[in-house]
Amino acid sequence: MFDAATYASRRETLQQKISSGVALFPGNNESPMNYTANPYHYRQDSTFLYYFGLAMPGLAAVLDLDSGQAVLFGDDVEMEDIIWMGPQPTMAERARQVGVAEIRPSAELAAYIRQCLTTGRPVHFLPPYRAETALTLGRLLGIQPDHLKTYASVPLIQAVVAQRAVKTAEEIEQIEQALAVAYDMHTTAMRMAKPGVYEREIAGQAEGIALAGGGTVSFPIICTINGQTLHNHYHGNELREGRLLIMDAGAETEMGYAADITRTTPVGGKFNARQKEIYEIVLKAINTSIEAIKPGIKYRQVHLHAARIVAEGLKSVGLMMGDPAEAVAQGAHALFFPHGLGHMMGLDVHDMENLGENYVGYDADTTRSDQFGLAYLRLGRELEPGFVLTVEPGIYFIPALIDQWRKEGKCTQFIDYDKVETYKDFGGIRIEDDVLVTNTGQRVLGKPIPKSVADVEAMAASG
Ligand code: GLY
Ligand code: MN
Ligand code: MN
Repeated sequence: MFDAATYASRRETLQQKISSGVALFPGNNESPMNYTANPYHYRQDSTFLYYFGLAMPGLAAVLDLDSGQAVLFGDDVEMEDIIWMGPQPTMAERARQVGVAEIRPSAELAAYIRQCLTTGRPVHFLPPYRAETALTLGRLLGIQPDHLKTYASVPLIQAVVAQRAVKTAEEIEQIEQALAVAYDMHTTAMRMAKPGVYEREIAGQAEGIALAGGGTVSFPIICTINGQTLHNHYHGNELREGRLLIMDAGAETEMGYAADITRTTPVGGKFNARQKEIYEIVLKAINTSIEAIKPGIKYRQVHLHAARIVAEGLKSVGLMMGDPAEAVAQGAHALFFPHGLGHMMGLDVHDMENLGENYVGYDADTTRSDQFGLAYLRLGRELEPGFVLTVEPGIYFIPALIDQWRKEGKCTQFIDYDKVETYKDFGGIRIEDDVLVTNTGQRVLGKPIPKSVADVEAMAASG
């Protein structure tokens, strides 16, 4: 946990941004897997962590936006809890850790909120993403849970996004801690990428490294020889020569800060000529996109730059044709690069996605495109110092998508479908780094994880 002063100062900043009323922050509770006493790994809500730091179930907090006073609602444990869970800090100790002066029993939250509502004080809340939280909020506010999202406070969403988007030095340190663990996860995967090994063996080792690092994984590991399926969570395949292993995985620290890294390793450790050709295009796309990152540039522009590199590269190998700039303008590259270049990252791997992607990644100057491919770009807006974002271009050969585009005669002036047919067994390549926007440019966070053809092959050969 950070110092109490960090949380107090974050709350003070938030309070100054919203004119009046109270902000209500429900913490996450345990979420059962198959019966109540057998819950999923506990994860506190990231906004609660940001302002109140405490990672345990049974809490809620309110910030009075007029007086600045914070109140923590929660209960001290009883003997029965101590028998099962061991001794726990008191609520008073917990509140002190995060600089909150006032604590009240959970049972008083309903009356507190009712009092606000009856006296006409606005109760600001964020859109819930868990059913249990929606039920609680619905009950407290007298709103049908299905309708909560329309009543969520836009000023609170915007204030939280503005604050959480800019990372402080101590947050960057946390992200780099997560990246140190991710380094071990990825280099282990490279060394294990040999024929006869199963994806699950590698995924299992990598997840173990995340746990041994003191936190957990920041999202379910993608570890697959079928990387053409973008979020493939199946780990049952045996690795075989000629396939590429995409590993998209990261750790999160005990405090909840994420890393999100992708590397692609040829099974057996040596790229063949065809793999190398495509890999070099993706490598150029990530490296030159990173170089382009600086305050003031729109991330959509960086995405379009990556798309241009992909189109030019695929033209040079004969898969695309015509003018690359025109191909990108018409979205032809999206047959091979159908997703966005990246997203913000912090306490969430897709930072603050629960608050609404367009509030995080777009603004009045930058609206989301509806073109296939570009529409998936989560972050399009102008970059500011302190933002942490991912850069993750890829090239994929998705047989079903190729068939559909060909059948529909899409972008035939830009795509050599006969040649593309011969790549349907290729799979996919993605490379992803986590980048801090600095005052003058950017810095790739963490110790460099092998990325060039030579470095990936050398790491694979060391296993
Ligand atoms: N790990 C999912 C992503 O890269 O966004
Ligand atoms: Mn990723
Ligand atoms: Mn990512």
